[in-house]
Amino acid sequence: MTLRWRDLRQQSVERLRAADIEDPDREVRWIIERASGRSPSEQAAALGDDTTEREVRFVDQMVARRAAGEPLQYVLGRWGFRTLDLFVDGRVLIPRPETEVVAGLAIDALAALDHPGLAVDLGTGSGAIALAIAAERWPHVEVWATDRSQDALAVAGANLAGLGRRAAVVRLAEGDWFEALPADLRGRIDVVVSNPPYVATDDPLPPEVADWEPREALVPGTTGLEAIEQIVRAAPRWLRPDGVLVVEIGETQGEATAALARDAGFATADIHPDLAGRDRALVARR
Ligand SMILES: C[S@@+](CC[C@H](N)C(=O)[O-])C[C@H]1O[C@@H](n2cnc3c(N)ncnc32)[C@H](O)[C@@H]1O
Repeated sequence: MTLRWRDLRQQSVERLRAADIEDPDREVRWIIERASGRSPSEQAAALGDDTTEREVRFVDQMVARRAAGEPLQYVLGRWGFRTLDLFVDGRVLIPRPETEVVAGLAIDALAALDHPGLAVDLGTGSGAIALAIAAERWPHVEVWATDRSQDALAVAGANLAGLGRRAAVVRLAEGDWFEALPADLRGRIDVVVSNPPYVATDDPLPPEVADWEPREALVPGTTGLEAIEQIVRAAPRWLRPDGVLVVEIGETQGEATAALARDAGFATADIHPDLAGRDRALVARR
């Protein structure tokens, strides 16, 4: 018997509710949008329409994954970041709204230059920050996107392919922080930006994060400051005079990070808030 969208929707909401998903109505709207290509208002207008077998199978698979606790973003395989719609899966961190603010600080620093900018995104993951810079500053920018994880670079590469001709200004490079970069970039970079892992080993993480997102993208070591410290200390050698370092930080790491930046020789070190008013980014000028 053919199933109507109204019934498939209702069944799916009930399955997610039984799995303790907080807002099953909203999540099922996302899932149906992914399976059918219909926006929420189109879904509302088509509740009496028949589904196809393929659509039912796709929705069922996504609902089963979500009910098992997998984050919605991985289930959908896509997530929005600033102007971009990025492919994401379990090989990369899910791009966060607070990182949109961090990317914005890097974009603002590049927009203030009176020459085409050279930018580097260290630990690019899905490519979120680097590709946002390329999308919003094209063609006045060259961007290097690095990661130590080959898996992450594969995802960033897939997202780069979706950037069309703007992809020509982006280079991907594998390696440990600045070591991934060619030596001739030393002293020439206008903006270094990074959202490094910054969670301490003992900091509690919600199960949806701890069980599904890559640990190496979240935890750099015991204190949580290890990766930030490495980047802040090495950055002055790679930035041009007046170059800017933008680093995402945890909400309790502002004071320690600003002190690290001053100690590394930066002329200024300011801490910027995210949209919720929590300390979220270091902006330091060489
Ligand atoms: C918090 S995630 C950020 C991902 C992405 N930039 C974003 O904001 O969504 C940190 C990234 O740094 C990478 N990473 C961790 N240690 C690294 C290292 N030593 N060198 C280079 N990349 C590293 C991880 O693989 C991960 O992709």
